Amino acid sequence: MLTQEIIRRKRDGQTLNRRMLDLVVRGIADGSVGDAQIGAFAMAVYLNGMNRDEAVALTESIRDSGQVMRWTDLDLPGPVLDKHSTGGVGDLVSLVLGPWIAACGGHVPMVSGRGLGHTGGTLDKLESIPGYDVTPTDDIFRRLVKEVGVAIIGQTGSLAPADKRLYGVRDVTATVESIPLIVASILGKKLACGLETLVMDVKVGSGAFMPTPEASRELAEAIVAIGCGAGTTTSVLLTDMNQPLADCAGNSLEILEALRLLGGDGKRSRLYQVTRQLGQEMLLQSGLASDAQDAGTRLDRALDSGEALERFSQMVHGLGGPSDLAERAGHHLPTASVTLDLDADRAGFISAIDTRALGLGVVELGGGRRNAGDAIDHRVGLSHIAALGQRIEPGQPLLRIHAAERADAEAVTQRLRHAFILSETDDATPPPLIHATLR
Ligand code: URA
Repeated sequence: MLTQEIIRRKRDGQTLNRRMLDLVVRGIADGSVGDAQIGAFAMAVYLNGMNRDEAVALTESIRDSGQVMRWTDLDLPGPVLDKHSTGGVGDLVSLVLGPWIAACGGHVPMVSGRGLGHTGGTLDKLESIPGYDVTPTDDIFRRLVKEVGVAIIGQTGSLAPADKRLYGVRDVTATVESIPLIVASILGKKLACGLETLVMDVKVGSGAFMPTPEASRELAEAIVAIGCGAGTTTSVLLTDMNQPLADCAGNSLEILEALRLLGGDGKRSRLYQVTRQLGQEMLLQSGLASDAQDAGTRLDRALDSGEALERFSQMVHGLGGPSDLAERAGHHLPTASVTLDLDADRAGFISAIDTRALGLGVVELGGGRRNAGDAIDHRVGLSHIAALGQRIEPGQPLLRIHAAERADAEAVTQRLRHAFILSETDDATPPPLIHATLR
């Protein structure tokens, strides 16, 4: 069947079957389908949507467009599982959760991404660590997943190659915001890692990828239906992104925070609570724990014994980083030469935070990319970010800026001043950390 006939069917509101979607996706991967046809296909899907069967078939086609990892030959003693997030600000869950789950007996082949828009990327954070190689050989990756239980690396060209082209065209044809295309893109890549179970963290709020809570929920429901439809047990936690998850954002700063949490510090933080909740779901879903209490006990033991931190250290060293990162983080991690506090000019309770603006502030400081391929400055970012509901006095810092130059810090200070809304009273109810769990 000709590609244009398949596009015509979708354009006219008819459904596509697996064979048709395979044809299009294979053509995207091997280059025989051109950018114009990809754009037309994406627009037809954007305008007419897809039913569940079509979306499952598209996801499976993208998953199968390249190498699909297999783990059975390694005889792993525990399940192969992962967590993925739609991205946020100060969201360093993956750095903590991967090794934590490994310390509970799971095997986590975590293929992560770079920063996108205002959100930070796990790979960019890990590259703050001198020597850390996000593109190891397949042998090293598999050995670490087997022996350490976790390896966090970047996407290889052979993993779901159709998505790379399709995403690139969507980005320039106003077709990113289509639920079936988003789900097929996210899950196509994740499911190519050969997972038995997947927990997705879909963010809700002012720093979330989806623009409204309703849209986040719609995405979450589609992810559960399509992930399970494609044969991987998938659940979603809808978690809050109305403020940065950690009280810092920036690559090197977030590695430091991950080390702090893995070292057992920060158990009262929102970051800890969300990470632990996602961990519970992963242990339950994969059968590593029998019930919520058992999952909690296993997680506590793995953290308090130092085993989770040990797995992180082994992963870092196994991927080329220093063997003593946890002990000498200050020595290994780069720090910015300029710090500047953004002080409140009046008293009040923080009633709203423009989380997206904070993320863009990090990008502006050089901690993210303005254009694909830009080098990033791992040192820069924000710390000591005040929280929703917090009482602030005049002159008290709302956050601290870490910059390469004083002029950069001053420019960002001006912009971020408006990211915090202060009210006279503390009657605003703080948003829940976990909005819902969908299975
Ligand atoms: N992240 C992805 O990987 N794909 C999308 O389509 C959107 C976010």
